[in-house]
Amino acid sequence: MNILKILQERYTTKHYDPTLRLSEGELQQIREILRLAPSSINSQPWAFDILSDEETKARLSEHSMSNRERVQTASHIIVLNVYRSIQTFEEERLPTLTTGAQSFYRSQIAPRGEEGVRSWMERQVYIALGVLLTALPMMGIDSTPMEGIELEAYDAILGHEKYRPLVAVALGRRDPEDENQPSRTPKSRRTDVFL
Ligand SMILES: Cc1cc2nc3c(=O)[nH]c(=O)nc-3n(C[C@H](O)[C@H](O)[C@H](O)COP(=O)(O)O)c2cc1C
Repeated sequence: MNILKILQERYTTKHYDPTLRLSEGELQQIREILRLAPSSINSQPWAFDILSDEETKARLSEHSMSNRERVQTASHIIVLNVYRSIQTFEEERLPTLTTGAQSFYRSQIAPRGEEGVRSWMERQVYIALGVLLTALPMMGIDSTPMEGIELEAYDAILGHEKYRPLVAVALGRRDPEDENQPSRTPKSRRTDVFL
């Protein structure tokens, strides 16, 4: 497996083949990939929805801005959620961590205050997003990371007591005519990023 070639060829899919669906085997792997994502002090302040039922996708698509069609036609939508409250995080996750991790949290993270802790938890969820976006093309699965969604509406539809949505990913297999694939739209990246 040539990782560089895979990353050169992965891209944000804009149009999906609505007839292609991920297999149960692929979904099992995806669940395990998300579960294995690393996080600071192993905090894992996340939970994931992996959605495929047409009714939920249709409801979410109404609140997905320019991603509407993708949410309707992709095989699955993964919503990456973060703890809604810091107190719940501290009650549920902290006691499961090593003493060293707990003391790191108490001395380095908690003093940052509510906004600081919230932002720290959100950054951990984005690590899971990065792992997912790298793993999917290795499995031959196309995807669309989506911040262009109405988080409040997603929250109301999903209705999780302890978690709120942060970012979503559509996944499936591309429409072969998708103009955004690198063979048609070459990748655009900075070259001046190494200091
Ligand atoms: C966190 C995040 C949020 C994004 N949100 C959207 C989105 O809502 N809709 C979309 O079509 N693309 C979205 N993108 C895709 C980016 O625009 C894309 O990754 C970037 O332009 C580079 O193109 P490439 O992924 O095709 O290489 C998002 C990407 C990331 C990492």
